[in-house]
Amino acid sequence: MKKYCLLVILAAVLGTSCHRSVTVTNLNIIPEPVFQVQKEGSYTLKDNPAISMVNLGQNSSTARYIMKSLRHAHLRPTLVSSTENNDIELILNDTVNSELGDEGYLLEVRSTGIRMSANTETGLFYAYQTFIQMLPTDVVKTSYHAITLPECTILDYPRFSWRGAHLDVCRHFFPIKFVKKYIDVMAMYKLNKFHFHLTDDHGWRLPSEKYPRLNTVGSWRVDRDDQPWGQAEPAQEGERTTYGGFYSREELVDLVQYAANRGIEIIPEIEMPGHTCALLASYPQLSCDGQPCEIPIGPYWPPKDIVCAGNDSTLIVFKDLLDEMLEIFPSKYIHIGGDEAVWDKWKQCPRCQRRIRTEHLRDEAELQGWFMRQIEDHLASRGRTVIGWDEVDDGSLSSNAVVMAWRGVQNGMTAARDGSKVIMCPTSHCYLDYYQADSRYQPASIGGLITLSKAYEFDPVPMGTNSHIAANILGGQCNLWTEYINTPSHAEYMLLPRMLAISEKLWSQQEATDWNHFRRKVEDHKNRLSAKGYNYCEGSFTPQFKVRKIDDHTMNVAIETEVPNTYIFYTTDMSTPTRQSAIYLGPINLERGTHIKILPVYNDIERDSIYEYVIK
Ligand code: ACM
Ligand code: ZN
Repeated sequence: MKKYCLLVILAAVLGTSCHRSVTVTNLNIIPEPVFQVQKEGSYTLKDNPAISMVNLGQNSSTARYIMKSLRHAHLRPTLVSSTENNDIELILNDTVNSELGDEGYLLEVRSTGIRMSANTETGLFYAYQTFIQMLPTDVVKTSYHAITLPECTILDYPRFSWRGAHLDVCRHFFPIKFVKKYIDVMAMYKLNKFHFHLTDDHGWRLPSEKYPRLNTVGSWRVDRDDQPWGQAEPAQEGERTTYGGFYSREELVDLVQYAANRGIEIIPEIEMPGHTCALLASYPQLSCDGQPCEIPIGPYWPPKDIVCAGNDSTLIVFKDLLDEMLEIFPSKYIHIGGDEAVWDKWKQCPRCQRRIRTEHLRDEAELQGWFMRQIEDHLASRGRTVIGWDEVDDGSLSSNAVVMAWRGVQNGMTAARDGSKVIMCPTSHCYLDYYQADSRYQPASIGGLITLSKAYEFDPVPMGTNSHIAANILGGQCNLWTEYINTPSHAEYMLLPRMLAISEKLWSQQEATDWNHFRRKVEDHKNRLSAKGYNYCEGSFTPQFKVRKIDDHTMNVAIETEVPNTYIFYTTDMSTPTRQSAIYLGPINLERGTHIKILPVYNDIERDSIYEYVIK
């Protein structure tokens, strides 16, 4: 019996691992490369490829990443020293190819093998990300004996140097394992700046030796995680604070290296002077009135707690905390927040008012500017450059400070016109905590609506921007605030696939981007993401209704999804629609009160749920 079982298992393994071969015909690279040409011939990659590396030490992080990733894709690569007749050649250019710059690459699939070359390890890393996207979408789950790839040449480099994604780990706390998974998916799509939002009203996530109460008090709140964010019951008197956590120094040091190995720089953020409730809960003496604030457990608006700008200790504490943070994060840029400060407490505070007088400031707005400037000068003395949310663009920071435009592209354009460097992440296109489809069919979110096609309309440098302004726009990023997101799986659902749209808009040349083409590629990538264990949203297939009155009883109903070539099957008799139901061909007249039920089908796959709508 035992023997029989073994044989069955062996046969199953052989069946899945040794005899499968596949021919790839279409390339679906995201972000779209600058230049890509597919040719007639092909190359068959065996599952035991010989790899050579030229000018790339086999212990370099890129070489190690690539070898490990190939094994993850069920290949058994062997490093060889000969540079002739290898399956895969990785070449760090001897002579710089100026067209490629620091992040570009050349990838060629020839009849004789695959060749990737770049000026830098980062360029090679991106060549590899493109290469891996050529392989079947399930390659991390399935062993292929042979993968036949079309001959092709891809020459590629990014449009913007700042291609970011942000993650708020304060409103909800996410384990470091998930943060790594987030970084992994950023790397797949050639994003290179991870904006780590580490402190806010709802929790302090940085470790601090000097100010331990930040971790014993400020990192924890009363647990209401089983209740919807907007309906959390108030904390009881004396209730223990058990939700939260913070990262250890070792975890963060390791994370920085993990990200760097994937071409990603981590930009940490300490928020100030507002969004500091977790800090003030830990050290109430830093507030204007000395009263402790309670770490909120749900919506907190307006965020009125603010550090006292008239108290010298406040600046000392922030400088200390920044210094501790700088030891962990080597990034050139440090984010110092600056958004949404509410100055009511400053108006009532004798010390803040004294500071306004002694520093010859006009008002609380100038007091905030003065405060941020003290922090900027401190960081500059440590060789770092500050980034602030676009509220900081009031003339108080130096011209080196970078403005992160979140309230609108226009704010970024103004700052860029005035000579500041700018990162665009407007709420209109880049806030991935917003709904991505009709809210009736989505998990609760903070509001707004940014569908995939809307995200794909993002352009950090809108058409027609003059070159002087354009030169100051470093790029853009998507932001993931997590008030309504409390699990890794939900974070992925909000991020994907919209992050892919943002990535293509940050990497690809403006003229190379095309919604219909992108949308087709996304299907392939959803399979790829799913094979890697990522969750994603099918919101693009949610029907959008346009209803027009014909007479008192009848309405004309137009239905569409944002994806061309989606078939819409529907019923109006309360039955569940199937592919045998009526197919929608154009606007239909329906009586008021009719229940219409819809089944969207795309690429022969039934999408998500059945959608129901009552004609009113
Ligand atoms: C922000 O969304 N308050 C930067
Ligand atoms: Zn004060």
